[in-house]
Amino acid sequence: MQKNTTQINLIKPDDWHLHVRNGKALKSVISMTAKQMGRAIIMPNLNPPVTDANGANAYREEIISALPKDSVFKPLMVLYLTDKTTSEVITQAYNAGVVAVKLYPVGATTNSDGGVTNIKNIYRSLETMQKLGMLLLVHGEVTRSEVDIFDREAVFIDEVLAQVTSDFSELKIVFEHITTKNAVDFVRESSDNIAATITPQHLLNNRNDMLVGGIKPHTYCLPVLKRVEHQRGLIEAATSGNPKFFLGTDSAPHAKTDKESSCGCAGVFSAPHAIELYAQAFDQAGAIDKLEGFASKFGADFYGLAHNTSTITLKKQDWVVPASYPFISGDIVPFMAEKTLSWKVV
Ligand code: DOR
Ligand code: ZN
Repeated sequence: MQKNTTQINLIKPDDWHLHVRNGKALKSVISMTAKQMGRAIIMPNLNPPVTDANGANAYREEIISALPKDSVFKPLMVLYLTDKTTSEVITQAYNAGVVAVKLYPVGATTNSDGGVTNIKNIYRSLETMQKLGMLLLVHGEVTRSEVDIFDREAVFIDEVLAQVTSDFSELKIVFEHITTKNAVDFVRESSDNIAATITPQHLLNNRNDMLVGGIKPHTYCLPVLKRVEHQRGLIEAATSGNPKFFLGTDSAPHAKTDKESSCGCAGVFSAPHAIELYAQAFDQAGAIDKLEGFASKFGADFYGLAHNTSTITLKKQDWVVPASYPFISGDIVPFMAEKTLSWKVV
């Protein structure tokens, strides 16, 4: 591809990490993802969470009925692991078409109160998943209060993930929304059963963007943005063409009033313009030719699924991200609101 490329066609991308909530919130956001993405891995951290096959089936139905009538978007369902999840529950979910199981360390993020308190509590579940060929999706942060929030991912690798990957060498693991050079190196050096998703905010921002000149609550997510050296490591990994790194937005809708608060929620909302945000990051790195693998191929390959058959076209064209979108009974502020992006889906 030439340096002065002004238009590119991509196999329709997939989002391998997405929050769409339920009820009214779901109705506000789902069509945004369905426009851009062929499929999405749907996070199970509802309140109450999706902890069994019945819950996953009901949630899948709710999503499908919230889609525009002509949509071919496919939600891929995920189970929420707890200390009490049994092998039977996992097997039933697998038989119901659930593709993966999510590990939230207790207290790590939004609606993770029911998460796992000790990794040993889920070893039987991991064994069952390894046998079935079900993927483990990991929110990779320790939550002990004495560990600095900027170090939680690195400590998780050393204390938990290194052990799990060695104890379950056949288990496929997605290290979700990685934010550090430590995670990039760990994934690169691990077996082919370990991959990672990277969000647009961690490619386009570092912690200065969140904290210098006043707190920008709409850039606050978990794991939190890190220093610029880590951002550079993530950009390098995403644009390297290494199939272990692929698209997962972690778009996480929260109402504007819940973000702009004395105790603001964690989550960046990127669903309306996800692929444009990634195009911005890849183009800035001089690697727009590497976008299709990252966005449309590597994730499907890792999950053992076919690539989408339709395509989308991105044109180089300046446009301004809206200040907000309607959400439930108020507004939601998208990532990079009122900023100019230089690629647009046509
Ligand atoms: O920032 C985040 N928001 N990180 C997560 O892990 C969860 C998400 C949410 O559900 O809002
Ligand atoms: Zn998430």
